[in-house]
Amino acid sequence: MRDAPTHQRLDDDFSPRPGRRRRRRAPVVATALAAALPTVGAALVGAATLTPAHAADPEPLRDAAARHGRTIGVALSPGHLSQPGYAAIAEREFSLVVGENAMKWDATEPSRGQFSWSQADQVADFAETHDAELYGHTLVWHSQLPGWVSSLADPTDLRAAMTDHIDAVAGRYAGRVAAWDVVNEMWNEDGTRRDSVFQRVLGDGYVADALRAARAADPQADLCLNDYNIEGAGAKSDAMYRLVADLKADGVPVDCVGFQAHLIGGQVPSTLRSNLQRFADLGVDVRITELDIRVPTPASSASLAQQAADYRTVTEACLAVDRCTGITVWGVDDGHSWVPDVFPGQGAALLWDASYAPKPAYTAFADAWGADPGDGDPDPTDPPTAPPADGDCAVTWTANAWSTGYTGSVTLTNTSDAAWSSWTLAADLPAGQHLDQGWSATWSQSGTTITATNAAWNGTVAPGASVAVGYNASHTGDTSAPASVSVNGATCTTG
Ligand code: XIL
Repeated sequence: MRDAPTHQRLDDDFSPRPGRRRRRRAPVVATALAAALPTVGAALVGAATLTPAHAADPEPLRDAAARHGRTIGVALSPGHLSQPGYAAIAEREFSLVVGENAMKWDATEPSRGQFSWSQADQVADFAETHDAELYGHTLVWHSQLPGWVSSLADPTDLRAAMTDHIDAVAGRYAGRVAAWDVVNEMWNEDGTRRDSVFQRVLGDGYVADALRAARAADPQADLCLNDYNIEGAGAKSDAMYRLVADLKADGVPVDCVGFQAHLIGGQVPSTLRSNLQRFADLGVDVRITELDIRVPTPASSASLAQQAADYRTVTEACLAVDRCTGITVWGVDDGHSWVPDVFPGQGAALLWDASYAPKPAYTAFADAWGADPGDGDPDPTDPPTAPPADGDCAVTWTANAWSTGYTGSVTLTNTSDAAWSSWTLAADLPAGQHLDQGWSATWSQSGTTITATNAAWNGTVAPGASVAVGYNASHTGDTSAPASVSVNGATCTTG
């Protein structure tokens, strides 16, 4: 987000704008506060409100990135938020949110002048609720463009449709969006302009027109151009570079360039850092906007290790460039990634697997950002743990069933007076039920016994606290809950 609502640019002399980094997050303050407090004060405040120097749980990515003055973003599809594992990661880890599809033209203006805001509003509301920046994607793009736009042939009419769209969408979220991808994917691989209705009917100038319209609609948002295969040096990257230089020279508002980075394992361009830097030297911010790193599926441990190294390399490149505002990953988990649909035989491209378990890529990425990995042990301030006893846990188990399957929702409550630092739930499924897939834990089935072990981020459960997990199962008619459930070997009360 631009610092002040002004039409007058302060940086048209191409001077870098250090210090434009956005808000830092609470844990930085909390750590400083903890250091400043006398011991007795720290003990009284307790672990719930302060981040210990070395915590049991891994530090959220957003907190580590905040120490560098950067953000970690995620492409969000609000429809997936009903899945607790997806929601938990999205809420915990990210300081920037972009609609995976929600703000695109086909979602926001499917018919001329008829706007549909429900998906986009959900993304904007999620960002605000979770104190994350909202990133707008995208105003002008050849893809996910309704047919009524593609069929406009009169330049005056198409220009009006484009500026009306920008005015409506950027105008609606003005003051809430930090940055907009104003034009997306305008280049061919050889650096010529990509064919699109905008290019055909309006010519090269549509990009400047779109940027000016966006500035008028939302004077505060940073205005970006975004593309893929511009991460390393090459004809396409050179074309974007020349365009940004020309736009700046002509006084056209452009504040940032987005490098999508839909990458292939083992193929991070060696020129990534220097390429980001040369754009930054033009006087624009740069950002990795859609990171995923695909590997052949099913993924091997070697390819996942290479992918982990690649996530680290991309992070180090961004961190080496002062004007790199951060990295956005294009999805939460491998079960909700666009990659397998578009690149058959490839996938596993994100930080969490389809069961929401963190992958080697997560560990490397978090480490590259300097996140505290946690030690998996109870915090020193936690009360000592006692062996679990029957009745130390309470479980509610509900099924939302259809003819052959059901979704099970399970809430575990720690009814003991000691914190759990990890938990394993075990239960016998009634006859005919079979686990397909679960979330927010690592699930497995052996015979009729189903087990779920905490994920990295939800192992710690304070006395009186609850954790929600879920799974999908098939059934042959009986969808009843397990008769007996245990956590860490102790039988739970059910109800
Ligand atoms: C993708 C979404 O992830 C998919 O859900 C959708 O079906 C197609 O678009 N470049 C972009 C993104 O700028 O908008 C694309 O997102 C991925 C490629």
